Amino acid sequence: MRPSPLLLLVLVGCTPPPEAPVPIADPAGWMVAHADAFLSDRGQRRAWLESSLWQPEVPYARKRLDGYALPNGGWDALPEMAARTAAVQTDGSTGPWRTLPATPPSDIAGWRALGERVFHELPMRRDAYVEWLADRPELWARAGVQTEDGALGGLTRFVDWRGETRTGITCALCHRAEGQPGRAARGLDLGWARARYVESRGQAPGAYADWGRGRMDVTDDPVDDPLAIADLWTVRWQSHINTSGAVRLDTPAALAIRFETQFITGHAFATRPPRHLVWALAIYVLTLDRPPSAVPVDHPGAAVFADRCAGCHDPERGYAGDLVSPAGFIGQTGPAFSPMRGTGYLKVPGLLGVGEGGPYLHDARFDSLSALVEAGHPYGDPPPPAQAAALVDFLRHL
Ligand code: HEC
Ligand code: HEC
Repeated sequence: MRPSPLLLLVLVGCTPPPEAPVPIADPAGWMVAHADAFLSDRGQRRAWLESSLWQPEVPYARKRLDGYALPNGGWDALPEMAARTAAVQTDGSTGPWRTLPATPPSDIAGWRALGERVFHELPMRRDAYVEWLADRPELWARAGVQTEDGALGGLTRFVDWRGETRTGITCALCHRAEGQPGRAARGLDLGWARARYVESRGQAPGAYADWGRGRMDVTDDPVDDPLAIADLWTVRWQSHINTSGAVRLDTPAALAIRFETQFITGHAFATRPPRHLVWALAIYVLTLDRPPSAVPVDHPGAAVFADRCAGCHDPERGYAGDLVSPAGFIGQTGPAFSPMRGTGYLKVPGLLGVGEGGPYLHDARFDSLSALVEAGHPYGDPPPPAQAAALVDFLRHL
């Protein structure tokens, strides 16, 4: 029998997850229509922030509620970061400087094209260990840093608020692979690079060395909880983002605010990104695509999926779903209970392209889809062997 999500909730005896927001049919179109409000109405930005942080007492939320779009001061008063950047060349030199436009575009194509540039050019953060790595070509292959056209993928030169030229990382470092923006960089091993950096300074590498490729601890707290980098092409259908669903996408504005605050924390609260750039970035992320799924008609695995999986992984939403409580399955640990972002819930991830992904689940527990299906997904009993094979093949076609 397939246990329904509702039954599971009753069994583990926890409070039901928050009501999922009403989906917006055309999120990118919504964003173009609401750009002026984001750029000129502070009160509106504040309202969007508050409604997206549905668990305001979580430290991740608290920090944003204390700093973002306040009546006076706060992060709004920070100076805007310079939108001038340059590629980091593999020979160590700096490519030609380029400047992102200072005024908002007027149509969807313009917004999307700007967002694509922001994704590849704007420094989301700066880390000493990444600057150290950028100067050591002998480590790039092992660390999984990609090089293309004589430049380092995902790294960018920029001038910081002190006027110093630095090397930062862009969204593309973690969210672009095999030439495809939106695909998680599963070969990237930042934990390994960070461990080597720490060792070079005469310290013990600590937990970094164990993160493994494609995973990293994104929270600054005493718990070591590295998470898999997410593919981004189902974000447009998700009701929540982050493994613990700490941000509710009740409007697409929540995504832009998530990115804006990510830049601010990534630059030590010294500067903030120009707002039209994060709005463009969100439009870009909401319109990222991958080659369409090619599930053969009448695939026998489709019925198994409909019976056992679709209750959470909605085929109409890129197989993404809402939040579920993991308490009864993986215990009171893991990202659902992270000190910084834990909500008590886990987001149901989308499954488009899942056959090219893996290792699977937030903690990379399974190397392959067959291992996941055979062991029994934490949310359901393993199907009988004949059905399992069909189900795995179905998943590979998504
Ligand atoms: C250093 C690597 C790294 C960089 C750089 C990075 N991300 Fe991420 N991103 C991650 C990881 C790891 C997660 C998973 C975090 C989690 O599940 O809580 C994630 C999650 C996300 C999510 C949520 C996806 C979901 O389904 O929950 C979005 C959206 C996102 N990133 C967009 C971006 C954008 C846009 C940028 C550039 C501003 C960016 N990221 C920069 C590593 C990175
Ligand atoms: C009760 C809701 C629920 C049901 C039912 C469910 N899943 Fe999931 N699924 C989740 C959640 C939550 C995660 C994320 C768990 C994690 O990262 O630890 C997930 C993750 C996955 C992943 C890993 C995705 C990745 O990129 O790592 C796969 C594959 C998957 N599910 C397939 C299935 C299949 C196949 C079925 C049916 C046999 C199924 N799921 C049934 C909630 C569900």
